[in-house]
Amino acid sequence: MIPFNTLKPLHHELQDELLAAMTRVLHSGWYILGPEVEAFEAEFAAYHGGGYAVGVAQGTDAIELALRAFNIGPGDEVITVSHTALPTVNAIERSGARPVLVDVDPLTCTIDVAAAAAAITPRTRAIVPVHLYGQMARMNDLLALVERHALLLVEDCAQAHGARYAGRLAGTFGHAAAFSFYPTKNLGAIGDGGAVLVQDAAVAARLKSLRNYGQSATYVYAEKGINSRLDELQAALLRVKLRHLDAHNAQRRHIAGLYSAGLRGVTVPFVQPEAEHVYHLYVVRHPQRDRLLPLLQQQGVGTKIHYPTPVHLVQPYRESGYAAGPLPVTEQLVQEIVSLPLYIGLTTAEAQQVIAGVTAALAELAAAHA
Ligand SMILES: Cc1ncc(COP(=O)(O)O)c(C=O)c1O
Repeated sequence: MIPFNTLKPLHHELQDELLAAMTRVLHSGWYILGPEVEAFEAEFAAYHGGGYAVGVAQGTDAIELALRAFNIGPGDEVITVSHTALPTVNAIERSGARPVLVDVDPLTCTIDVAAAAAAITPRTRAIVPVHLYGQMARMNDLLALVERHALLLVEDCAQAHGARYAGRLAGTFGHAAAFSFYPTKNLGAIGDGGAVLVQDAAVAARLKSLRNYGQSATYVYAEKGINSRLDELQAALLRVKLRHLDAHNAQRRHIAGLYSAGLRGVTVPFVQPEAEHVYHLYVVRHPQRDRLLPLLQQQGVGTKIHYPTPVHLVQPYRESGYAAGPLPVTEQLVQEIVSLPLYIGLTTAEAQQVIAGVTAALAELAAAHA
């Protein structure tokens, strides 16, 4: 069986560096918002060519606080997609703004820019594109739209650390960018973690206050904030992994390349010519996905679905009526997608085994039809 995902080979590869980082923090006597967090913030910003990174507790808070730092809240509308991890929408809701969910582009599975344009109202303040699966949204069109309507752009980069569009890194296009360091992300902690990347020093200072109960200095409260701090241990571990991010993304691209060259009978990921995909997930499509799944399991290919239910149809969100209108592409897509095994340490031989397993499962499916 090739598992859908495992972090064991990655953590085995980096074990000595990770243990050294853990020991350093243990012996430092300082565990929350300290020198490791500051160093990680500086290194993460430098990786992105500048700006300011602010470490927070997870990616969901990163989105919420990014919006709040730009004064987005009750009475405002924020456009995003329904085809995303639920926290994108949850975070917008928590900022006080109303999420407005639009359809995705059928090729990239990222925000349909024309649909976003059609959903703009006088209350619209921001767009949150999700760089889903490791590929950035159609940024040329999106930037033009955002500029035309003077909207705020907050990139959801939870699945796109190190991805590029026209040579430019994910997170450097928006007024703010939100990152998750959930352990399975391309840059993952060994626990929860997140960060907001901004270009403006005053916004960064406000984020630092918002993540720490709203304190501008010890026991001085500039506004109401929350507790969303990155801890020293996670920051120290993230510093280790950041040094390997580009090499690990290249490894992901190598495996994806093997899949895309070897797979027949499923639709492999479409990659925009401007995009450098970092394959957080390798997602294929098949019109009979639900019949294919048990056959893949029998062939020893671990799979998952990202995501089986679009947010506008998830039970507690259904009643909120966040969909801008019918979302036919999204609703069709979620019935066809399946994510194949992709993780650091997956060997070429294992990738070939996955290709053989998918090929055999498709043959069985065809035989069942005959
Ligand atoms: C696209 C997207 N946005 C937001 C999040 C939220 O991140 P976190 O789980 O760190 O809160 C995730 C990950 O779960 C995600 O995949």
